[in-house]
Amino acid sequence: MEQTFVMIKPDGVQRGLVGEIIARFEKKGLKIKGLKLIKVSEEQAAAHYQEHQGKPFYPGLINYVTSGPVVVMVVEGVNAVKEVRKLNGATNPLEALPGTIRGDFAQDIGRNVVHGSDSAESAQREINIYFQPDEICDYDYLPSRWLYE
Ligand code: RTP
Ligand code: MG
Repeated sequence: MEQTFVMIKPDGVQRGLVGEIIARFEKKGLKIKGLKLIKVSEEQAAAHYQEHQGKPFYPGLINYVTSGPVVVMVVEGVNAVKEVRKLNGATNPLEALPGTIRGDFAQDIGRNVVHGSDSAESAQREINIYFQPDEICDYDYLPSRWLYE
């Protein structure tokens, strides 16, 4: 099983999309192992987006993710990283297909509603930025036998 990190960004929270977005991950059959609403600190934002430091959009990106509460999640599945990024859709909502979260709910790359880790390694790094180990819940996910052969 693979874990990934998901964030519903401040625009997603403010626009009342939390339930709708979580429902999409649930309905796909992804197991939610951690879930909370937090205000992202400057330190967390800088650690999260360190790969983008120095890029023209970086200051705006840090401002955006620290501008209001976000929902952070640890999500598990056989191919959780790819499955989440597929449900999220392309980074630029203009390119994101209808049926994806960004395709359905966003218009601007700087307000693209949701984040998903780009690899299993990034996921572990990002989970460590936002979660304590005891905030991640291990439990039997009963649908598994109906999701995977
Ligand atoms: P994310 O990390 O949020 O899941 O998105 P991603 O992998 O698809 O995109 P990434 O390249 O990691 O970019 C991270 C976030 O930075 C903002 N961004 N703005 N104005 C721009 O050109 C630009 N490029 C990226 C977006 O909020 C993107 O999700
Ligand atoms: Mg990324």
